[in-house]
Amino acid sequence: MKIAITGANGFVGSTLLRSLHANDYEPIALVRRPFNAPGVAIREIDYSNFKHLSAALADVDLVIHNAGKTKTLGQAEMYAANIGLTQKIVSAINHIDHPIRLIYISSQAASGPSQADLPRQESDPCEPISSYGKSKALAEKVINKQCLQPYNIVRPCSIYGPQDRDFLQLFKLCKKGLSMQIGRQERPMNMLHVSQLADFILSLIENNNVDSETFFVSDNVAYTQAQVVQYIAQAMNIKNSQITVPQVLAHTAFGLSDLWGKIIRRPLVMNLEKYKEITAEAWLIDSSKARELLGWNPVPRMPELIEETYQWYISNGWL
Ligand SMILES: NC(=O)c1ccc[n+]([C@@H]2O[C@H](COP(=O)([O-])OP(=O)(O)OC[C@H]3O[C@@H](n4cnc5c(N)ncnc54)[C@H](OP(=O)(O)O)[C@@H]3O)[C@@H](O)[C@H]2O)c1
Repeated sequence: MKIAITGANGFVGSTLLRSLHANDYEPIALVRRPFNAPGVAIREIDYSNFKHLSAALADVDLVIHNAGKTKTLGQAEMYAANIGLTQKIVSAINHIDHPIRLIYISSQAASGPSQADLPRQESDPCEPISSYGKSKALAEKVINKQCLQPYNIVRPCSIYGPQDRDFLQLFKLCKKGLSMQIGRQERPMNMLHVSQLADFILSLIENNNVDSETFFVSDNVAYTQAQVVQYIAQAMNIKNSQITVPQVLAHTAFGLSDLWGKIIRRPLVMNLEKYKEITAEAWLIDSSKARELLGWNPVPRMPELIEETYQWYISNGWL
């Protein structure tokens, strides 16, 4: 089966590419700039050229639309990347005259945060609180309303693993012997290792009876930030001290970082949108639909997977 992956050179995309290749599919990397992946077909693509995009997808059986922005300097860029690009993919596959399945990598952020004692379900109305979440919810709407081909929408929770630059910041802080919590309140959240997402995508590809379904995906465990930090410290074999930062101070720090990002024209992980997300009550999702329809029941292995991620950062000189 030929499977095209948009954003195949990024953190999630490159893992999906390797996993599909290892499982005897024929992955095709769709990228905007030169990229090399052993044994994999690469198609450099100009997404603004409809004919070019349609031609690149004409011979594939499935498209995993994974490309997108998780942080930008402004809403226009976020919307163009997440909604505009999705619109183009949907138009292109609608014009192809054979069945071509679409799997869209959305995000938990499209649905929005949860209450601490009530994980969100796929059927809950979307209540995103950031531009990122809004753009993913609107991209989902484009697919639900306009896609004429079979499709699924996947909403992963926060993803960590080798090649991830966002969680790397937490590892860097831990390495200095520090961990920070904003305010006194513990905020439960779900997490997923990127290889677990790749396994989920394999089980979805192998199931053809779930057309038009949206799935939350996590490893089914509610973590606290303190727990995650403890696993990182364990992997590093260090002790670290937790600092509780008052919410007002954290808001100022995220605001200054946001401003600095605008000055240097580079979106930073610490920004005001991220602050809104981090200080939400909880980020919990209910993955029981994936369990019931796809048999998705991962073995939670966070300590081991954090250790593996740490080793990757070390051996690749990122830490
Ligand atoms: N990381 C997470 O925790 C997380 C959680 C849930 C969902 N997701 C979703 O997973 C997907 C991949 O995220 P990631 O963390 O792997 O991000 P990433 O490492 O930044 O990779 C993003 C990929 O998308 C491509 N891309 C970005 N804007 C584009 C545009 N306007 N046109 C074409 N390609 C574009 C990038 O290509 P270039 O290299 O050419 O810029 C890159 O290949 C995203 O859709 C994100 O919303 C991520």
